[in-house]
Amino acid sequence: MAKVKTVYVCQSCGQSFPKWAGQCSSCQEWNTLAEEVEVPKGSRGDIMAGGTLAIVENLGDIKTERTQRWMTGIDVFDEMIGGGLVPGGITLIGGEPGVGKSTFMLQLISRLGVNIKPVAYISGEESATQIKLRADRLGIGNGSDIYLLAEQNLNSALNALASYLPRVLIVDSIQTVYTPNLESSPGSVGQIRECASMLTKFGKERQLPVFIVGHVTKDGNIAGPKILEHIVDTVLYFEGETNSNFRILRVFKNRYGATGEVSVFQMTDNGLTSVINPSDIFINQNRTESPGVLVAPLLQGSRCILAEIQALVTQSYLPMPRRVVSGMDPNKLGLLIAVLERHGGVKFYNKDVYANVAGGLRLSEPGGDLPLALALAGSLMDKPFPKDTICAGEVTLSGEIRPVSQLSRRIAEARRFGFKKIMVSSYSDIEAGKGIIKVKTLKEAVNAFFKGA
Ligand code: TYD
Ligand code: MG
Repeated sequence: MAKVKTVYVCQSCGQSFPKWAGQCSSCQEWNTLAEEVEVPKGSRGDIMAGGTLAIVENLGDIKTERTQRWMTGIDVFDEMIGGGLVPGGITLIGGEPGVGKSTFMLQLISRLGVNIKPVAYISGEESATQIKLRADRLGIGNGSDIYLLAEQNLNSALNALASYLPRVLIVDSIQTVYTPNLESSPGSVGQIRECASMLTKFGKERQLPVFIVGHVTKDGNIAGPKILEHIVDTVLYFEGETNSNFRILRVFKNRYGATGEVSVFQMTDNGLTSVINPSDIFINQNRTESPGVLVAPLLQGSRCILAEIQALVTQSYLPMPRRVVSGMDPNKLGLLIAVLERHGGVKFYNKDVYANVAGGLRLSEPGGDLPLALALAGSLMDKPFPKDTICAGEVTLSGEIRPVSQLSRRIAEARRFGFKKIMVSSYSDIEAGKGIIKVKTLKEAVNAFFKGA
């Protein structure tokens, strides 16, 4: 095979070089050169060279056929990605090593209907025997139409597949496969990008869904899935502590559906099982009232999940008190502390503050402001929040409580779990009474629960 010519392109300024160097001599940035296949340029003066005639269409004349979607048989997953797989759709599944990506992919392909067979699984990580052992553990494999390729050379793997005509392709993982078109080692930025574009081309041409598994580390920044996010159609991230059994699969980007959707799984001895009612596992039904802990109805995409929010406020012995968060943006905590100090009548300047959303959920929508603020105030004043109460509201910089979206869905979920009182903004489109408490300001809310006013 003729060697493809490659160049090293600076990812910061775009300058290309024939050889790799640690520093870009053009923009002086360090470690920005990545190997790429050289695209032949048109000769000077003729910018159109190297192209054919592109098709120009009138938007109004384009016929749309509703693309048929393929159900995977894992209902929560199908729903989350917008109603099944899209033929030709490229999906990136990212997550930390050990979170369950390979397990999930294997279960997914075993559940596909008979008309979505065969499936090809390219593994650059594990041997065929290892995959077979896992499949046995999951109780799948016998009689299924799964072709395994324990191969790291992506060119070889795709060549082999040309005659097998798979309907679905899985590559596990993008960091362990390589194309000999580039000299750089597997896992480098150039390799990852080139392999991903080969897979995209393969999938789009043959109209098959392609799943690209990618490892992300805790900081999420090692040459990996991040650089692929704009190439693929759908980006899913698997989250969850390896020492807890629950895993959250989150839609980060989706050209065929909504983002922010989640589905929850439990890792068991025989693989991942879907959790139909996630609120069940994120709140402790037998919890006792304790200061700084309360339950909030958080929206995760179009679903409402009840989650426990925990805050701990302690005396600080540091010149710069600590602000530690998990499951939320640290700026959100800083902002709520500022509003509480200015408008809520409580002071945090000499306190260390820790805040957490239990179970690995994220507090990423405004409805979580009021619950977090009240958890903070409760911990500071060492007063418990009533166990039968729940709240949802956006806190403004001026200390007002604004209404939240999907209030009826949140109320329904709260009622389902036996919460009797629900605190919402006075401006909400719902009548007070029957357990609905309305508040205008954060100060009012704090006073109602913790100052007995
Ligand atoms: P794996 O799918 O290999 O993770 P990834 O591909 O994301 O690196 O899953 C690894 C973990 O899952 C491993 O610690 C063992 C555990 N596991 C189970 O608990 N039950 C099972 O049935 C399987 C197959 C794995
Ligand atoms: Mg794996």
